[in-house]
Amino acid sequence: MIGTAHRVSSPRVVNIEDLRRLAKRRLPRVVFDYLDGGAEAELTLRENCRAFEAITFRPHQAVAAAQCDLRTTILGSKISFPVMLAPVGYTRLIHARGELAVARAASTAGVGYVVATFAGHKLEDVKNATSGPVWYQLYLIGGREVAEAAIERARNAGYSALVLTIDTAVSGLRERDLRNGMKELLAGNIFSKLPYLPQMFAHPAWLTSFLLDGGLPSLENVIVPGQGPMPLVDVSSGLAAAAITWKDFGWIRESWRGPIVVKGILTGEDARRAMDEGAAAIIVSNHGGRQLDGVAATIRALPEVISAVNGEAEVLMDSGIRRGSDIVKALCLGARAILIGRAYGYGLGAAGEAGVARALGILRADVERTMKLLGCSAVGELNSSLVNYPCGW
Ligand code: FNR
Repeated sequence: MIGTAHRVSSPRVVNIEDLRRLAKRRLPRVVFDYLDGGAEAELTLRENCRAFEAITFRPHQAVAAAQCDLRTTILGSKISFPVMLAPVGYTRLIHARGELAVARAASTAGVGYVVATFAGHKLEDVKNATSGPVWYQLYLIGGREVAEAAIERARNAGYSALVLTIDTAVSGLRERDLRNGMKELLAGNIFSKLPYLPQMFAHPAWLTSFLLDGGLPSLENVIVPGQGPMPLVDVSSGLAAAAITWKDFGWIRESWRGPIVVKGILTGEDARRAMDEGAAAIIVSNHGGRQLDGVAATIRALPEVISAVNGEAEVLMDSGIRRGSDIVKALCLGARAILIGRAYGYGLGAAGEAGVARALGILRADVERTMKLLGCSAVGELNSSLVNYPCGW
């Protein structure tokens, strides 16, 4: 960890884009593009980041605060600053330690972690790797019986909320994955894989650790009765078989019997619907621009959802966060906490646990500095009077 920490220390890495550059160098193209890419023309992917530029700060000057209190709670759990690590499927392809490395970094930083159904490590082991809050993100791949078994395991392991991702009726068309042979590499025979193998040999460090880890990981939390863990499936066929609809909420609620978080909300109507179905929290998300290309940036959708929810549930948001100032802007617009996906994924790809820790360190320092420059000494002081944003949002 100390050696890898050096790889991502300053001045080599001073921001998230630096981690992205290192991840690009370390990972085979198919893996980097899986992490980095979005759907179709990647309009929403770009817009998620660009939209933050339309928000400007209105600081209170001459109120320098020596201390800045970044702590908050989400669904009653304490976190050291208002960030959670978003569910990222196939994390074990990015780094062999995968979710275990992410959980350890989350624990050290005192933030929460949402573990994906498409995780490569057992959910119990991931829970044991962190002392922070962990939520389990559910897809219905394998069907209801398989999902119920995972829900029970998550409850027994101490997961404190169940996250239902509802923006994946089918998989978005991820054109980079098609070009790079993602499907053939995951599910094809040796002949269909051959054209795509050279990109692996160009990244010997990644390839060595991938092979030492046993090659393609299984989906350790998707246990098919009589067969064991489901083998890794191509992302698009996996997602097509995994969709959650409002009709599923009833049995999922009964099976889980704990707080439910609905991820993928972009309108006030769906926010109200989720609350009617018992959601304790809502995540305003467009899946980081990986699903329906052409939907609005989530920061633009946030005010409508905040107003529809009217304080009756906690509202989180994700998509497009690359700097701590983005986090502060979203908090000013009313989000309770922010999830990051690629920002820590790049860190993981660059240097495993040390890279995730570096990503969190950069964002935390950014948030603290931004708040001090704004004249705020606690996250509870952030509000919409500290920003200007386009009318009509
Ligand atoms: C995701 N995301 C995601 N979401 C989810 O609910 N289940 C999943 O399995 C995955 N898998 C996944 C893989 C990868 C590689 C990425 C980048 C993202 C979406 C994720 O939780 C989150 O919504 C976005 O990553 C947020 O956007 P940013 O922070 O990446 O811009």
